[in-house]
Amino acid sequence: MTDEQNAGFHDPSDAAVFGARLGRRQVVAGAAATAAATMTGFFTASAASADPATSTPRDQQGVTPPVSGLHTQFGSDARHEVVVSWHTLEPVHEARVLLGTTYGYRRSFRAVTRTYVDGKSGSTVYAHHARLTGLQDDSEYLYLATHAGADAEGGSFRTAPHGRAAFTFTSFGDQGTPTVGKKVTNADGTTVMANDNLGSFAAGDTTLGVERVQPLFHLFNGDLCYANLATDRIRTWWDFWANNSRSARHRPWMPSPGNHENELGNGPIGYAAYQTFFELPAATGQTDTTRGLWYAFTVGSVRVISIANDDVCYQDGGDSYVRGYSHGAQKRWLESALRDAAHDVAVDWIVICMHQVAISTADQFNGADLGIREEWLPLFDRYGVDLVVCGHEHHYERSHPIRGRRDNRTRTPIPRATDTEVVDTTRGTVHMVIGGGGTSAPSNQLFFDPPACRVITGVGAKGSNGKRTPVYVHEDAPWSAVRNPAHSYGFAAFDVDPGHHGGKTSITVTYYDVTGVGGQLTPYESFRLERPRRH
Ligand SMILES: [Fe+2]
Ligand SMILES: [Fe+2]
Repeated sequence: MTDEQNAGFHDPSDAAVFGARLGRRQVVAGAAATAAATMTGFFTASAASADPATSTPRDQQGVTPPVSGLHTQFGSDARHEVVVSWHTLEPVHEARVLLGTTYGYRRSFRAVTRTYVDGKSGSTVYAHHARLTGLQDDSEYLYLATHAGADAEGGSFRTAPHGRAAFTFTSFGDQGTPTVGKKVTNADGTTVMANDNLGSFAAGDTTLGVERVQPLFHLFNGDLCYANLATDRIRTWWDFWANNSRSARHRPWMPSPGNHENELGNGPIGYAAYQTFFELPAATGQTDTTRGLWYAFTVGSVRVISIANDDVCYQDGGDSYVRGYSHGAQKRWLESALRDAAHDVAVDWIVICMHQVAISTADQFNGADLGIREEWLPLFDRYGVDLVVCGHEHHYERSHPIRGRRDNRTRTPIPRATDTEVVDTTRGTVHMVIGGGGTSAPSNQLFFDPPACRVITGVGAKGSNGKRTPVYVHEDAPWSAVRNPAHSYGFAAFDVDPGHHGGKTSITVTYYDVTGVGGQLTPYESFRLERPRRH
C-alpha cells in the first residue's frame, strides 16, 4: 500500500457526493449527529438515489452490484484506525470510502479487494476493505462506501478513547441468520421455505438488542452463520451480513472463528470465507493460510486478544479436522501477546475472545474441551487473564474466577472465590459462555443438575456422522457460578469504569435476555468485575 493510499486522498467529486448527502441533514453537534443523519437519509443509498448528485456515475452497462453487507472493524490501535468493508459477487472498480464528520468531507481511502472461490458453488466472492488511518481518538465519523456506478452506502463509527476512559462493549456467539434460504418438501408434497443454516428469528432480534445498548464495539465469539451447514453457503453469508450490517456499519464487530467457520473446500484449512469477509489486525506467526485467525487490539485500558480454538480443540466440530494447524505458531503468538499485555502499565484488563469452551455444565451438547484446558488455561493463569468470552454452547453461564487445576484426567479448574456479585479478577479468570446469539438449537434446557461437566478428552474413530467420535469424561463443576436455564437467547454488555489512579477499576457486566421483536431486552443478571489499576 502506498503512502497516498495509507493517508487517504482528497477527491473533489467525492467531496461533492459527501456534501450532497450531508446537506440533507440539519446542522447538529455531538451525540445527536448520528440520529439526525439517520433521519435525513445520510446512511441509505435508496434515500439518495433520486438525486444524481449524491451517487457516483453509473458504469456503461448501467448494471452495478450494490454495496452489500457494509461493516467495520477496528485496527490494532482502535484510536486511530478503522477498516470499512463490504462485498460483491462481481469485480468492481474504484472501491473506496469517503470519510468525513458532521462538519463535512475529509478525504477518501481506496479499498483493497480480497477474494475466495466458494468450493461448493464455484462462485467468487469479492470483499472490499478500506483501511482508514490517521483518525482522531474518541471521535465520531461518518462515511460513505461505494464503487464505480454504485449508490454509496453510509455508516458511522466512533474511535476508541485515548487512555483510560469509560466505554461499553458487548458479546455473543452462535447466531445464524433469521432468513429463509431453501425450499423443503413436506410428506404431502407441499413445500415451505425454511432456514438454510442453524438460524432462527432470534438471530435478527439479537442484532437489534445490541443496537439498543449501542456499544463501542461488539465481540462475536464464533459460529457466525453456520454457512458450512447450508445448501447455499454464499446466500447464508449474504444474509448474515444483511442482518448484521444494521449494527456493524455503526460499530466494529470483532470476531473469533468458530468451528462452523470451517467450510469444506474453502482454503487449505477451511476458513477462506471468514478470512475474506473480515479484515482484522495483523499478528506475527501467521501465513497466508492462517492470516486473520488470531489478533489483538486495545480500547482504553482493555486489551482484547482473539484466538482460534480449532487449532487446539480435540472435538471434531467443523467440516474438516484441523487440530494443530498452526504448528504452535498461534500459541507462541498468544504467549507473547499475553506477556506484552501483562507488562503494559496502560492495560488494566486482559479479555480473551474465543469460541469453544473450557467450562460448560450442559449435558448432551458439545461439552468442554480438554485441549483448551491443556493449551490455553496455563497461559491465562500465568499472565492473569481477567475475562474470557466464548460460545459454542448455545446458552448463558459463567464461572467463578478460576486458577490452577486439579491433578485429574480432566484438569478440573479450581475456583478461587465464590461471590457471584463482585469478582476480584486478580484471583482468577472468569469464563462467560455467551452462545445464545440466535440459533435454532439452544442448549439452556440441557443443564446438569447439580452442575457437572462433560469434558472431551480425545477423539476416536469416525462415527456414522463422519466425525471423529468424542471421548467424554465427566467431572463435577465446583467452578460453576451462574446459569440461565429459562431463556435461550441473549448477549452480555460490559461497562468499563476506569476508576482513579491508585484505586480500582471495574467492569459492570449485564447479561440481557433478548425477548422479542425489535431486540426487546430483559436484564437477567448483573455483576461486577474489579481489580486494582496498574497505574
Ligand atoms: Fe454454535
Ligand atoms: Fe461451535
